[in-house]
Amino acid sequence: MLPETLKWKNNKLFLLDQRDLPFNVRYAECGSAEDVARAIRNMTVRGAPAIGAAAAYGLAMAAASEDFEESAETLLASRPTDVNLSWAVERMRRLYHANAGMPRDQICRIMEAEAVKIHKEDIEINRKIGSFGQALLPENGTVITHCNAGALATAGYGTALGVFRAASEAGKKIKIYADETRPRLQGARLTAFELFADGFDVTVITDSMAAFLMSRRKIDAVVTGADRIAANGDTANKIGTYSLAVAARFHGVPFYIAAPLSTFDIKCASGADIPIEYRDGSEVRGLCGTRVLPDEIEVWNPSFDVTPADLITGIITERGVIRPPFAGSIRELLTEGAVTDEK
Ligand code: MRU
Repeated sequence: MLPETLKWKNNKLFLLDQRDLPFNVRYAECGSAEDVARAIRNMTVRGAPAIGAAAAYGLAMAAASEDFEESAETLLASRPTDVNLSWAVERMRRLYHANAGMPRDQICRIMEAEAVKIHKEDIEINRKIGSFGQALLPENGTVITHCNAGALATAGYGTALGVFRAASEAGKKIKIYADETRPRLQGARLTAFELFADGFDVTVITDSMAAFLMSRRKIDAVVTGADRIAANGDTANKIGTYSLAVAARFHGVPFYIAAPLSTFDIKCASGADIPIEYRDGSEVRGLCGTRVLPDEIEVWNPSFDVTPADLITGIITERGVIRPPFAGSIRELLTEGAVTDEK
């Protein structure tokens, strides 16, 4: 059985240490918001919604101290691209200030209850995304996914992998190709582990094999998650998502993003406004502890890329599937909550 991504016990957060997977299942204990921020920075916990939920628990712990605002800022600065982090921090911050006049132990209880609510809500949202998304897949289908947008990247169930879980629950047979996802191998280490644990037919490919795979086998869809979606539909996700979308367009394969409403950021007019995280070059200079390049050779290591909205067939949310032109459908989705054409 797949181990839980986050566990809240006795006012402490236990995070499944994703740096050690798939070979070691170990939990890191976080007793403060600063511990949580460190765990986000060093990738103990990763994946946009899981980071958001972890940050919410971090602020539940921070509510007991005088340094709440400092903790909120430390968490906000821990990773730049995924917007679920600031979404969760702002939600917890508003609640904290709205209850500022209350006795401290009461604020703590309110904040804890809110973090638990964010955790539970995320799982329910992912189930809804899954139910809308599975309707896009055939009875017997083959798909490609990139990075890990599964139970391990969320509070549970997953977004892109939630679509495959829901398809399987609906009795569909889905074969999944998982891109290994260089440089940190979230596809090989996490997605393959997660899907295999749940009995899926999963095959790992290196990122560079996806286009050739599309040319040789019938691929029904590509489904990935997202870290931030701009007002025009441009979508930031793990580096390599953009090239996968280009290959999908060339081969006529539908390309879907699966993401909750908390991943939309209409303050970003387009992908050009999305902050991209650049990580240490050592991730490219080495592979699982083995050096493949000397330090004096330059590397470039953006952790995310932006897939232009033009390449996206549809965005699967908890309110339904939106389609181009995205500027209008996103505005409608976020303001009126319309949609739900397919289920
Ligand atoms: O660097 P990571 O592992 O945090 O990147 C994760 C991704 O890019 C996921 O696809 C994204 O956060 C969506 S998770 C539901």
